[in-house]
Amino acid sequence: MSFCAPCLSAGRVRLVMEGALTARDRVGVQDFVLLENYNSEAAFIENLRRRFRENLIYTYIGSVLVSMNPYKELEIYSKQQMDRYRGVSFYEISPHIYALSDNTYRAMRTERKDQCILISGESGAGKTEASKKILLYYAVTCPTNDHMAALGDRLLQSNPVLEAFGNAKTLRNDNSSRFGKYMDVQFDFRGAPVGGHILNYLLEKSRVVHQNHGERNFHIFYQLLDGGEDDQLNTLNLERNPQNYRYLVKGNCPRVSSISDKNNWKVVMKALPVIGFTEEEVQKLLNIIASVLHLGNTQFGEGEEGETYITTEISNLARLLGVDGSALREALTHKKLTAKGEEMITPLNFEQAEAARDALAKAVYGRTFTWLVEKINQSLALKVHSKGSSVIGLLDIYGFEVLQHNSFEQFCINYCNEKLQQLFIELTLRSEQEEYETEGIAWETVQYFDNKIICDLIEEKHKGIISILDEECLRPGETCDVSFLEKLEDTVGGHPHFVTHKLANGKTRRVMSREEFRLLHYAGEVNYNVNGFLDKNNDLLNRNLKEVMCQSDNQILSHCFRREEVIDQKRPEMAATQFKNSLMKLTEILRSKEPSYVRCIKPNDAKQPGRFDEVLVRHQVKYLGLMENLRVRRAGFAYRRRFEAFLQRYKPLCPETWPNWHGRLADGVLTLVKHLGYKDEEYKLGRSKIFIRFPKTLFNTEDALEAKKPEIGKHIRAVLVFIRACVYIYIVIVIQSGWRGMKARRRAKRRRQAADLIRRFIKGFIYRHGEYGPENDYFLDHVRYSFLKNLRKNLPKSVLDKSWPTPPPSLDEASEHLQRLHMRNMVTKYCWRVQPEWKKQMMQKVVASEIFKDQKDSYPQSVGKLFLDSRLEREQISLKVVQTLGNDKVQYGVSVIKYDKRGFKPRPRQLLLTNTFAVLVDKTKIKQRIDYTALRDIALSSLSDGMCVLHITREDNKQKGDLLLHCSHSIELVTKLAMMANKTSNVNINPGSIQFTVARGKEGIIDFVRGAELKVTKGRRGHLLVPVKESLLPAW
Ligand SMILES: Nc1ncnc2c1ncn2[C@@H]1O[C@H](COP(=O)(O)OP(=O)(O)OP(=O)(O)O)[C@@H](O)[C@H]1O
Ligand SMILES: [Mg+2]
Repeated sequence: MSFCAPCLSAGRVRLVMEGALTARDRVGVQDFVLLENYNSEAAFIENLRRRFRENLIYTYIGSVLVSMNPYKELEIYSKQQMDRYRGVSFYEISPHIYALSDNTYRAMRTERKDQCILISGESGAGKTEASKKILLYYAVTCPTNDHMAALGDRLLQSNPVLEAFGNAKTLRNDNSSRFGKYMDVQFDFRGAPVGGHILNYLLEKSRVVHQNHGERNFHIFYQLLDGGEDDQLNTLNLERNPQNYRYLVKGNCPRVSSISDKNNWKVVMKALPVIGFTEEEVQKLLNIIASVLHLGNTQFGEGEEGETYITTEISNLARLLGVDGSALREALTHKKLTAKGEEMITPLNFEQAEAARDALAKAVYGRTFTWLVEKINQSLALKVHSKGSSVIGLLDIYGFEVLQHNSFEQFCINYCNEKLQQLFIELTLRSEQEEYETEGIAWETVQYFDNKIICDLIEEKHKGIISILDEECLRPGETCDVSFLEKLEDTVGGHPHFVTHKLANGKTRRVMSREEFRLLHYAGEVNYNVNGFLDKNNDLLNRNLKEVMCQSDNQILSHCFRREEVIDQKRPEMAATQFKNSLMKLTEILRSKEPSYVRCIKPNDAKQPGRFDEVLVRHQVKYLGLMENLRVRRAGFAYRRRFEAFLQRYKPLCPETWPNWHGRLADGVLTLVKHLGYKDEEYKLGRSKIFIRFPKTLFNTEDALEAKKPEIGKHIRAVLVFIRACVYIYIVIVIQSGWRGMKARRRAKRRRQAADLIRRFIKGFIYRHGEYGPENDYFLDHVRYSFLKNLRKNLPKSVLDKSWPTPPPSLDEASEHLQRLHMRNMVTKYCWRVQPEWKKQMMQKVVASEIFKDQKDSYPQSVGKLFLDSRLEREQISLKVVQTLGNDKVQYGVSVIKYDKRGFKPRPRQLLLTNTFAVLVDKTKIKQRIDYTALRDIALSSLSDGMCVLHITREDNKQKGDLLLHCSHSIELVTKLAMMANKTSNVNINPGSIQFTVARGKEGIIDFVRGAELKVTKGRRGHLLVPVKESLLPAW
C-alpha cells in the first residue's frame, strides 16, 4: 500500500474517526470495531480503561453504545451538549447517549419506523440513569407546544413516583430498580412527544416482607416515615422511627447516606398531582403503604391446642385496608378450602398464618404497584389520536444477576436476559445481513453462539424448566422444592446446559449444594437454589383473604382485588408462566421495532468514581456478550461509510479526486483507493458504501490525511484568494448584465401586456351588446370606468346647471341615481351656505312663485327683483302713527292708491303691515285697520296691473269693509301680506273682473281691460274700469 504523503508510525493506534473531535476525545478507539485485535478481550478492556480514565464513559461497538458508570456527575449532559448532538451524524462526534438518542429519533422521523432502545447491564451499571437521560433529551429537544410540554412534564415526573414504589437500596445499588420497565414514547407526525405507555415486569415483591442484610425495603416506606407531616403520620397511626416496623428492620439499614428520604418524599408528593392523582387517591395510597407496615407488625400466638390467634391490635390495619376487622382477623388465621364441591374452613398453624400475612402484604403492595403504573399510563395516554405517529420504546430491564444465593427471581431475571440476548443476536445479524444484501456484498457466515438452546431449556412447553415447575406446583400429592429438583434431573438431566449436584462431576460438585441446579447461560454459569421456587411460583393468596380484600372500601384496593377473581374457579397462571408470557409479548414488541442498544457497565462494586475493577468489568463484558457482539459486527468488515462521506474526507489524498471529483461517486472512491494502494482483500465497494476490512487500512489513510493537512491548508488559502478575485469580477459582470437583462425583460413584458389588452378591448367592442361575460367584460368594465371617471370631472357645479354626461346603457339607472344624489348634495350644501337675510328673501320668493307663477302676467318681471324689507323709509312714516301702533312694530310699509268704493276716487295712502294687522294711513292718521283675522282673501287680476282688493269678512263690525288698492309693488305687497296674515292660499287671481262689497248687500265690480292708457275710470253700470296697457312696464 502506498500513500502520496509519508505514512506516520504504522503501529500507533490511531484514535481518530471523523469530524472535529478534540484531542481528549481521541483516547483509545471510539468504536471497538476499529480495534485491531477485535478478538482480544484484554484489548477490549484496555480500551475501556483508557477512556474511563479520561472520563470518556461512552464507546461504540458499531451502533451499540457501551456506557461506563462514572459514579460522579460529569459536565456532559447540559443543554449545550444536547444542541451539539442534534442532527449530527453518529460518527461525526464523540460517542454519547445523546448521539444515540438523536440518531434513534431521526431514524424514526426519516424512516417512519418505530424504534426501541434496549438498555441492559448489571444492577448499578446505570441503566435507569441512561433511560432518564434519553427521556430528558427528548423532552428538551423535540418540538413542543403547551399540551406537549405538560406531557413531557408528566413523563419526567412519573420517574420519581415509579422509583419511590419500585426501587430500593440494595447492596449493589442505592437506587436499584426492582422491576423491569418498558416505556413507549409516542411522537406525532411533527416529531413532538404526544403520549407514553409503560409496561412493568416482575416486581420483586419478596422485598416487601424480607430484605437481605444491608438492603432496604422499597423507598416509599422510608420516605413516608421521614418526610410525612406529623398529622399525616397520626392519621395513619404511624411512628417516625422505621426501626419500629418489622418489615423495615430485616436488612438493618434504615438510613442511607446517599439518599434523602425527606427530599424525595417532597418530590413524590409534588409529582403525584402532576400525573393526575386526586387528593383522595393520594390519601388512599398512603393508607395502603401504612397498612403494609401495620401488617408487618401483626403478630400471632399459639393456643394450647395448637390454634393460632392474633396477639396485636388490628383495628388500625383494618381501617387502613378499608375492611371489616373481624373478617380480616378470621382470614389471617384460617384457610378456606373447597373439596368435592364443599367449602371447609381450617385453622392455620403459626407458620401458615405468618405466611398468609406476608402473602397478603406482598399481594397488596404488588397489586398497588401495578395499579400505579396503570394510573400513570392513563395520565400519559395519547389524548387525541395522532395520525402518522411513531414510537420510541425504552427498555430498562434487569441485567444478568449472579449472587451468592440465586433464587427464583434470579432465575426469571437471567431467563429474561437470555431472551433479550437471543433477540439481540437475531436483530444484529439480521441488520448486518440486510445491509450486505442492499449493498450487494456477499454475506460471510459469522460464527456466534446461538443461545436458543438455553431459551428452549427454560421455556419449552412440557419439557422446559418452567413447565416442570408449574407441573410440580399443580401436581396432587406431596410436592416440595426438592421434588421439583428431582423432576428436573429426570426430565432435563441430559441437557448440555443443565447440571445438578447429583449429575455433576467431582470438580463442579464441590462448588454446588444438593439443593441447587446450575444453568450454563450464554453469559456464564449460575447456580440456583430451589428453596422457595414452588411457593414463589404459586404466589398464592388464600381465598378468604382475597374475599376480604374484595370488600375493601379503599377504591384502589377494590380495583386491585376483583370479585371475579374469587368467583372464578380457574386457577390463575403461575408466576413463572406469567413472566414467560409477558416476555414473549415484550420480544414481539421489540421485534416489530428498529433496535438500538445501550450496554451499561459498572466499574466497581464500591460505587466509587475513578476505580476500574478489571475483574468486575471483564465479568460484565462477558455477561453482556460484548465480545460476541463485536465479532458479529466485525464479521466481514471493520469500517463502512457512504461513498460521498468517504470521498469528501479523503479526496485530498489523490490528485484526480482533489479538489473535486466530477464523475460517479463509486468511480471516485475506486480511483481514490487505487491511488492509495488498497489491496483487493482490504476493501469492497457496495452500491452506496465502501467496506474496509481492517482498521489498519483506515488508520493508514487517516495518517496520510493528517500529514497532508498543511499542504491542503496552503492550497485552500491560494484557492480562496483566487476565488475572492473571481467572485469580485463575477459580481460586477453579474450586476451589469443582470440590470440590462432586467430592463429588457420589463420592456418585453409590457409589450406583451399591451398587445393582450388591445386584443381584449377589440373583442369586447365587437360583443359589447351581448351579455356580460368573458368576451366583453374588459370592454364593458372599461366603458363604465371611463364614464364614471369622466363624470367625476364634469359634475354640475350649481343647482341650476342641468347638464349631465350621457351614460352607457348599462349604467342608465345608476346614472339617474347619481344625478339625484348629486343634486341633493348640492342643494344641501347650498342651504348650509344661505344667510338668514337671504333665506327670508328666498322664502318670500318661493311663496310669490307659488301664488303668482303662471297666474299673473307681471310675475316674471318680479322674479329678478329683490323684495325689500320696506318701501317706506323710517322718516316717511309719521311718528304719531308709530306711537299709536305702540308695541306693534311696522314690518313693512308701502305707498298705495286707495280707491273709494263708491266714487272710485283715488287717494294716496300708506299701507303699513304689522304682525297681526295692517293699517291704512293718511299722512299722520290711521284711516283704517284691517285685522288679519278679518281678512277673508286678497284678489288680483291676472294681468299686469297693480290693483288688489282686500276682502274683509262682513261679520266683523269693527272693520270698514273691503279695500281697493293700487300698488306699484303689488306682488311684493301681496306676498308679504299673505305670509304675515297666513293667507297664502287665500290669494285669488281673477282673469277679467273682481267683485267687492260696497256696503251691506251692495256689490261693486272692477273690470280689467286691455287698453292704451293706464287710467282707472268709472265705467258703465258703475264698474271700476282698469285698462291695462301691455307695452308698459307692468306693476309688480
Ligand atoms: N451517567 C451517570 N452519571 C453519573 N452517575 C451515574 C450515571 N449512571 C449511573 N450513575 C450512578 O450509578 C447509580 C446507579 O445507576 P442506576 O440506578 O441507573 O443503575 P441501574 O443499572 O438502573 O441498576 P438497577 O438494575 O439496580 O436498577 C446511580 O444512582 C448514579 O449514582
Ligand atoms: Mg435501575
